[in-house]
Amino acid sequence: MQRNLTDPWWLGKRDELLAIAEQTQNAYVYDLDTVDAAAKKILSLKSVSRVLYAVKANFNPDVIRTLAKAGADFDCVSPGEVEHICNVLPEIDKSRILFTPNFAPRSEYEWGISEGIQITLDNLYPLQAWPELFAGQDLMIRMDPGEGQGHHEHVKTAGTQSKFGVSRLEIDELVELVRATGARVVGIHAHSGSGILDPENWRNVAGQLVRVAERFPEVRILDLGGGIGVPENRDDAEFDLQALDEMLLAFCADYPKYDLWLEPGRYLVSPAGVLLTHVTQVKNKGDMRYVGVSTGLNSLIRPALYGAYHEIVNLSQIDNESSHEVSVVGPICETGDRFGSDRMLPPSQENDVILIATAGAYGQVMSSRYNLRDIPPEITI
Ligand code: LLP
Repeated sequence: MQRNLTDPWWLGKRDELLAIAEQTQNAYVYDLDTVDAAAKKILSLKSVSRVLYAVKANFNPDVIRTLAKAGADFDCVSPGEVEHICNVLPEIDKSRILFTPNFAPRSEYEWGISEGIQITLDNLYPLQAWPELFAGQDLMIRMDPGEGQGHHEHVKTAGTQSKFGVSRLEIDELVELVRATGARVVGIHAHSGSGILDPENWRNVAGQLVRVAERFPEVRILDLGGGIGVPENRDDAEFDLQALDEMLLAFCADYPKYDLWLEPGRYLVSPAGVLLTHVTQVKNKGDMRYVGVSTGLNSLIRPALYGAYHEIVNLSQIDNESSHEVSVVGPICETGDRFGSDRMLPPSQENDVILIATAGAYGQVMSSRYNLRDIPPEITI
């Protein structure tokens, strides 16, 4: 088959992937060159002074080292994530870590402060209930940008139905609480959701944050969050980073006092990861054709949880005609254990290697041992 420059990395590395699949029934494979290339693209944005990788998307140590080397810093949501970064990168300067917990117990804020890690508050409650913790501290404040965006309701993080962020209606109270505790607000943050393909989102967020920032004279940082989407289908257009940069550069020209930060997770790692599995059995039932594979929603829950689309190919038969319309299902005892419906694949046979694409973000990290099935190992190449 003729290959194009825009083909995904895994077509070019097919032989290597097939060799890996000979050694293991199921595996997550991450291509570190692809991680590095994505990091370099985001880090080259002229409008953005800092990129914090959202560790929750994929905490594989090689992936983290690759991102750190490229120049990304780290956005963590739990003490576990912070400790993991410090273990993987023992030399790291802790100022490269941002800690943004949500509905966390008091002890986690105490811990973060004692470790000297920059904390983001996303609720008034910590300032109301534990003001003594924050006296003299530099704080980031996460606002609710009002309107959520994203690929699914579960990943929209704004509006009253979302548990995140300080409401714009609470700004006066926020200003008063900050003054009373003797904290300094140094940055304002918002994250609208995940899998957003319209660059306009970040311009809107910047516009909203600047209005809040004006209430705090010491704010120098506007953290516009993550959420940058990736194409799911091979024919989809790439996210227009250039357009994003232009919009944000125009914003910076209007508001030169602020540094803009981004917190991408998915964009940096999703295309770099694939889940390899094997055909176990095939079945025709009525007019349905099922291709069964040896791992299921315990490894990759995104299709079941969000109806997310992941490209699926039969890697063993990549050059054969995709003539069969099939559902690709796993071995888990749930009807929702389905990686894809109405997919065109060549007639698949037992032991063929099946590749599930764009699985580098929110794949292995969301896996479980449901049905006491093993979580696939991670291999980096
Ligand atoms: N910053 C904050 C505060 C976040 O809550 C998140 C993601 C990110 C950054 C990174 O967002 P990203 O650039 O990766 O979209 N499990 C879902 C995604 C949940 C995202 C949660 N927050 C999925 O599989 O689509």
